[in-house]
Amino acid sequence: MRHFLTLLDISPDEARHILQRAEKIKRKLKEGKPTRPLEGKTLGMIFDKASTRTRVSFEVGMYQLGGHALFLHSGTTQLGRGEPIEDSARVLSGMVDGVIIRTYAHETVQRFAEYSTVPVINALTDLTHPCQVLTDVFTYEEQRGCIKGRTVVWIGDGNNMAHSWINGAVTFGYRLRIACPAGYAPDEKAVAAARALGADVSLTHDPLEAVAGADLVTTDVWASMGQEHEQAERARAFADYRVDARIMSYAHPDALFMHCLPAHRGEEVTADVIDGPQSVVWVEAENRLHAQKGLLEFLMA
Ligand code: CP
Ligand code: NVA
Repeated sequence: MRHFLTLLDISPDEARHILQRAEKIKRKLKEGKPTRPLEGKTLGMIFDKASTRTRVSFEVGMYQLGGHALFLHSGTTQLGRGEPIEDSARVLSGMVDGVIIRTYAHETVQRFAEYSTVPVINALTDLTHPCQVLTDVFTYEEQRGCIKGRTVVWIGDGNNMAHSWINGAVTFGYRLRIACPAGYAPDEKAVAAARALGADVSLTHDPLEAVAGADLVTTDVWASMGQEHEQAERARAFADYRVDARIMSYAHPDALFMHCLPAHRGEEVTADVIDGPQSVVWVEAENRLHAQKGLLEFLMA
């Protein structure tokens, strides 16, 4: 029994296997031949935060794989009334075959996993968002081939997405350059751990320096869920970190633009970039469904 709490929970070979299966499952679905390895299986989906893509992709993914998904918003379960996470893990894992959790503290997901007897998937915490980066690598490779040795550039907040890109540099072997304002760097320990595992991760405060020759440029909101009260202060700090046509012009001409969405046009990215020819955000969003089906099959079949 395995959990997927960060990208470091799977080996590079396992990640390759998941993406190969995802590619095949997607192709078969488009040919009208769905793959159904999870018949009779149920996924519990615990959400403490809002979601569009994650909820829909896991729910539809389970249905297409032959199983069933159960949406459990904390506000309408006993979790929201303070039932301990350890008790909830033991109760739910007696009834379902897998659990996804979207919450605030990463430690909550770790505690749930410790007491769960079924696989647990991190559907976003304040620390990481591994399902999104798994999908983003899948999307890059679908469009441009193997990501190993390519240059991925993260511009903006050193947030959960940035941390998953850092972990992904270990798993997938891309070079990662991060440009963030002072005070908003990713967790030093995450950077050091990735470097110790052989990842090529560098940090700068200069987005133009970071983006030179990039194969993939990506960013995210300036204020993540739970940080809405910091919006004004963050808008000031990140003003020079907006991904616009000038920044994109320093990247490789063939570079792709990605954003996990939801996006704020005119804040972290301009409309001409996110709606422009280098942007693959819509296929990236759709691929949440396909990449996660590879993951669900790996963990639950
Ligand atoms: N990218 C992503 O996780 O989107 P949702 O918040 O809509 O799930
Ligand atoms: N960093 C964002 C990602 C949303 C998918 C957040 O945590 O709100």
